[in-house]
Amino acid sequence: MKDIASIARDRITVAPSLLAADFTQLESQCREVALAGADALHLDVMDGHFVPNISFGVPVVKSLRKKCDLFFDTHLMISHPKQYAKAFVDAGSDLLTFHVECDDMIDAVLDECDRLGVPAGLSLKPGTPAEAVFPYLERVKLILVMTVEPGFGGQSFMADQMPKLARIKREIKRRALPVIVEVDGGVAPATAPQVASHGGSMLVAGTAVFRAPEGMAKAIESLKANTAILDSAL
Ligand code: DX5
Ligand code: ZN
Repeated sequence: MKDIASIARDRITVAPSLLAADFTQLESQCREVALAGADALHLDVMDGHFVPNISFGVPVVKSLRKKCDLFFDTHLMISHPKQYAKAFVDAGSDLLTFHVECDDMIDAVLDECDRLGVPAGLSLKPGTPAEAVFPYLERVKLILVMTVEPGFGGQSFMADQMPKLARIKREIKRRALPVIVEVDGGVAPATAPQVASHGGSMLVAGTAVFRAPEGMAKAIESLKANTAILDSAL
């Protein structure tokens, strides 16, 4: 398992989402995105129940682990993360993010992550208030703020989530916790500066990286350009 500390909290990092890759060429797409400067690979797992879409699961993660050295940032959009946590850790996930809206008891999933020795992340959908994750901030290494309704890539960035993002970042700072704030959905060079200025430091981008006409390296560079984590604004 790779060390979560390799994903720094206070610098901008980019985690391209494999969901937007060419699924007929997963090995070469992963190699290309690593060479292009990705800091992690974001793996969107969907069960057709928590979200109205099915993506990929354990066998894909396990196969890619043999071919790719990137930090595996696994985003579980599934109703029962506790039951599947071990399989995703065994497959090679370096971090498991699950949803505060899932059907399991949050503390039970966090206990399972502790037992497995994997860092945990907690995500919240656009309609869920910041306060929903506050009770768990001491137990997680990452909070993932969704800026689209989870389920599909290629949707428009919801700027109305920025006050919530800032609120979460502020609370993490107030408690002086080592929690990374990640933002996912419609993140592109045009929206990344807003994310950073509201306290998001780990940028998930599917379409903006894997489908960038200018190529992945330029896309990752543009995502990081004009971004500064404006602590003063928080
Ligand atoms: C949405 C996923 C996202 C998505 C991002 O359910 O969690 O990670 O793939 O895709 P873009 O960057 O295209 O919005
Ligand atoms: Zn995601």
